[in-house]
Amino acid sequence: MDTRIATDLAQAQLLLNAGKLVAIPTETVYGLAANAFNADAVIHIFETKNRPHFDPLIVHVGSIAQVKEVATHIPENAYQLMQTLWPGPLTIVLQKHERVPHIVTSGLETVGVRMPNHPMTLDLLRSIDFPLAAPSANPFGYISPTSAMHVAEQLGERIPFILDGGECMVGVESTIIDCSGDTPTILRLGGTAVETIEEIIGKVVVNAISTSSPQAPGMLHTHYAPRKPMLVGNIHELLHEGGHDVSILSFRDSFHNFRNIRLSETGDLHEAARNLFAAMRKLDADHHSTILAEFVPDYGLGRAINDRLKRAAAK
Ligand code: TXA
Ligand code: MG
Repeated sequence: MDTRIATDLAQAQLLLNAGKLVAIPTETVYGLAANAFNADAVIHIFETKNRPHFDPLIVHVGSIAQVKEVATHIPENAYQLMQTLWPGPLTIVLQKHERVPHIVTSGLETVGVRMPNHPMTLDLLRSIDFPLAAPSANPFGYISPTSAMHVAEQLGERIPFILDGGECMVGVESTIIDCSGDTPTILRLGGTAVETIEEIIGKVVVNAISTSSPQAPGMLHTHYAPRKPMLVGNIHELLHEGGHDVSILSFRDSFHNFRNIRLSETGDLHEAARNLFAAMRKLDADHHSTILAEFVPDYGLGRAINDRLKRAAAK
């Protein structure tokens, strides 16, 4: 299949209306989108990504009003989050509307919904009359794509069209908060800081599979992972222990005698998040056998970065 990479919204609409897949830009990472109400179209997403059917998709909407088409019993705290933080990197898990096919939610009675903050994709969502189911546009388990070229490198042969919206401004996936039960619970750390959410709805529970606590690495699931081994810790110690056939992913310090990418020279966590996945891809593609990385400060977006680093390093 020849993939087109272009900014042509009409082409994207046409394909989506016909039940085809389109890779779409968002502020977090690129998504692989299909009509969320069309179960046959959504099945193609799972096939194209080699994604297991037990892993539910996020449904993307173009307005807060549209949430009522995919969810029911929407609580007040969810509305507060939508009104304050949408469009933005926050997915809200709500009770599922019966109209959403079970293939989208992997059989769950809840659905994850978000309004992405990307002008092109917002235009697209507002020009079609269905929401878009979209996971990240990468093969299951690999690093998420933050540019159209990343998508083309890995899924190019398998999808007809990539809508090119440039580089993703946030760079890590959305934060996922479950508002379907009594206590709002963070299920995935991401592009919206926990602190920001707590300013709006008060204290929340953080129950991400990998929280930022380094105590339980055995519980981590490998994900967002480069193909070669990656070790995370104190880089000087890791260098001391291991061989020197390594490349180094550091936060702000430079390591002159090595192949080294710094996430942010000024120590800016937003910049670090934006650079994270592209840096991991670059180091995965060089000739060194192992990537050494270090954690960043564990607050704000730093928690999501550390979560991704830990998962990338998990065995
Ligand atoms: O930033 C993002 O969220 C990106 C862009 C494309 O929007 N999407 C993304 O999708 O990261 P994906 O498929 O890579 O991750 C979606 C995750 C699932 O793995 C699952 O953990 C969670 O969202 N999820 C979706 N629906 C859920 C539900 N009903 N209950 C709990 N978790 C859910
Ligand atoms: Mg993903």
